[in-house]
Amino acid sequence: MADTKKLFIRTYGCQMNVYDSERMAEALGAEGYEEVASPEEADMILLNTCHIREKAAEKVYSELGRYKDLKAAKPDLKIGVAGCVAQAEGEEIIARQPMVDLVVGPQTYHRLPDMVAKAARGEKVVDTDFPAEDKFEELKARPQARRGPTAFLTVQEGCDKFCAFCVVPYTRGAEVSRPADRILREARELVEKGVGEITLLGQNVNAYHGNGEGGVWSLARLIRALAEIDGLERIRFTTSHPNDMSDDLIAAHGEIDKLMPYLHLPVQSGSDRILKRMNRQHTAEEYLRLIERIRAARPDILISGDFIVGFPEETAADFEATMDLIRAVNYGQAFSFKYSPRPGTPAAERTQVDPGEASERLQRLQALINDQAAAIMQDMVGREVGVLFEKPGRMPGQMVGKSDYLHAVHVSAEGIAPGDLRRVRITGAGPNSLSGALA
Ligand code: SAH
Ligand code: SF4
Ligand code: F3S
Repeated sequence: MADTKKLFIRTYGCQMNVYDSERMAEALGAEGYEEVASPEEADMILLNTCHIREKAAEKVYSELGRYKDLKAAKPDLKIGVAGCVAQAEGEEIIARQPMVDLVVGPQTYHRLPDMVAKAARGEKVVDTDFPAEDKFEELKARPQARRGPTAFLTVQEGCDKFCAFCVVPYTRGAEVSRPADRILREARELVEKGVGEITLLGQNVNAYHGNGEGGVWSLARLIRALAEIDGLERIRFTTSHPNDMSDDLIAAHGEIDKLMPYLHLPVQSGSDRILKRMNRQHTAEEYLRLIERIRAARPDILISGDFIVGFPEETAADFEATMDLIRAVNYGQAFSFKYSPRPGTPAAERTQVDPGEASERLQRLQALINDQAAAIMQDMVGREVGVLFEKPGRMPGQMVGKSDYLHAVHVSAEGIAPGDLRRVRITGAGPNSLSGALA
């Protein structure tokens, strides 16, 4: 038997990177690697990186800088860069930071065992292919025996939409859907290991069109099949594009109890001029009509979004149109960012908004969203919701879980275990979480 080696993985970016990091740990697990909690203990460090904004990408180099002493003290330590920065920058990473031993993109990490063996022989290895084979089929994994109550499951990857600001179509490649039977099998395995809630992942998850029994399945069809799995209590999905929000998926929100009343539906801007320049392919009005149809199917659904402020050529009036859209929608949560010019994307070449102006807009937008989110949390007080408990809270005897609407909920009660789904009456709303009592 081979010696146990120690692997440390640090994950940046979106949920799909979290999922990929788990798969990489399993792939290297089959090679005798055990995951450890700190880089100091590791024989191999993997950074699973994000390229979406400049700040995210630069974090990688500051993190690598911190490993200099570790590498000096332990020359056999191997350092790998995976994920979207790996895909975007490839061998430039090693040119800029020579202590990096391997660079692996998001579509080739099934080849990690081979790459790690080469790195062990002192070679520098870079693999940023978009291979024909499906990495998930090729992965030789040593799966974890047990899992927590919630899990991610990638069903679709890549993007063909080419929004003018976004690197994802370049880092993740073209849109690909996994076959439905593979997803159903993976979901059943997760449930057997204790998972009660699965979040289906895709860069455009609602564009899912995987091969299934009888032909091509939509996301709604897949969700209906998943809902049949005993022991799977809750289904979520993220991230959706407004233009792929099909009638059957909207209907599913009204018909499938296990599908949670929460929808992340980014719009980015409320100005038609800016939406056009972003290549989003829809207007503000179309988005608002879509939200109306979704709320008609599931009136209590909580809507979340993403916004970019200070997109090139955004005027004060464009920004006010975004604020109007936010007022019209009433968001339960939203992620908002100052535009960050990304190499190779069309918008990076355009006239940029004054950074001070953009910061001011971001502050105003975030204040509005925070007010909306706080009011929606306050409205939860007195209501009864489902809570899937995940872990003990900070107070003795307290447990924390997520409500159907994805709010964190604290409950102090005897006899609640992680993985329990219970009815809870909400009694209070704080800035970041709710508190309640078993109903
Ligand atoms: N696939 C998802 C989003 C993926 S990226 C979608 O279509 O909405 C997550 C979020 O990052 C985006 O929704 C956007 O708000 C933000 N983002 C992407 N590129 C950005 C950039 N260059 N500058 C600032 N924010 C950006
Ligand atoms: Fe990026 Fe647009 Fe694709 Fe979302 S839809 S991943 S924002 S290009
Ligand atoms: Fe970042 Fe890549 Fe996800 S750029 S947001 S890690 S798809």
